[in-house]
Amino acid sequence: MRVICKEDYDSASRAAADIIAAQILLKKDSRIGLATGSTPVGAYKRLVEKYEANELDFSDVITANLDEYRGLPKTHDQSYRYFMDTNLFDHVNIKKENTYVPDGMEQDAKKACSDYDRILEEKIGRFDLQLLGIGGDGHIGFNEPSDHFCVNTQCVKLEEQTIKDNARLFFSGDESAVPKEAYTMGIGFIMRSKRIILMATGKGKRDIVEKAFSGPVTPYVPASVLQLHPDVILVGDFDAIPETLRQG
Ligand code: GLP
Repeated sequence: MRVICKEDYDSASRAAADIIAAQILLKKDSRIGLATGSTPVGAYKRLVEKYEANELDFSDVITANLDEYRGLPKTHDQSYRYFMDTNLFDHVNIKKENTYVPDGMEQDAKKACSDYDRILEEKIGRFDLQLLGIGGDGHIGFNEPSDHFCVNTQCVKLEEQTIKDNARLFFSGDESAVPKEAYTMGIGFIMRSKRIILMATGKGKRDIVEKAFSGPVTPYVPASVLQLHPDVILVGDFDAIPETLRQG
C-alpha cells in the first residue's frame, strides 16, 4: 500500500483528484468507481476545476457508484444519484448514460442487486480506478461489518452508527430521516479494481484507519480487506493517518 499524507483536507483532495485526473489522461475511456459522503467532495471540486481549465475530458469515461439508499428517489437531495449529479456530473462533459448508480427505487431487493451486478459486468468489467471513503465502523460502500466479506451487490441494513453519522447530511439532521437500508456494490467487485484510492480525512477517521490498515484482516472491519489488494493508495491528512502508517 502507498500512503499519501497531506497537511489538510484541501491538499489531500488535490492529491486524490490528481490521481483520478492522471488515470483519465492515461486512458480516455477509463472505468472509474465513485464514492459519496463528505470526504470526496473536495476532490470532485478539483476535478471540475480541471475540466473547466480544459485539462480533462470526461466524454469517454464510464463511472459506477458504490451504493444508494433504498427507497430514496433520484431527486431526493440525499440520494447518491443527486449527490453525484450536483457535485460532479452536471459540471463536466461526462455522458449521463455512462454513469451508473444502483436504483434506490427498485423495491425488489433481489432484482435491484442482480440488475446492478449485470450493469457492472456488462459496462465496467473491472474498474481502472476505484475511489473509496471509509465509514466510522470501517464500512466501504455500504458494506457494513459482518461475519463474511460479501462478494456481490447486496441490500444491507445500515448500522446504528452509520445512520447516526449520516443524519447530519439530511435536512432535518435527525436519524429518523435516514433510510434504514441501502444497496451496495459487493466487496468482490471493489477488490477486482486495478487500483483503489481510499480517502480519509479528519480526526474522526483516525482510529478506524488504524484498525483497517494496521489491524487484522476481518469482515468485522470491512476496509481491512484492502490490505490484500496489490495496488491501494491511502490518501488523507495528518489528522486521519496515524504516524505508523505514514511514509517518507
Ligand atoms: C457513506 C457512504 C460511504 C462513505 C461513508 C463516509 O456511508 N456510503 O461510501 O465512505 O459514508 O462518509 P464521510 O466521507 O461523510 O465520512
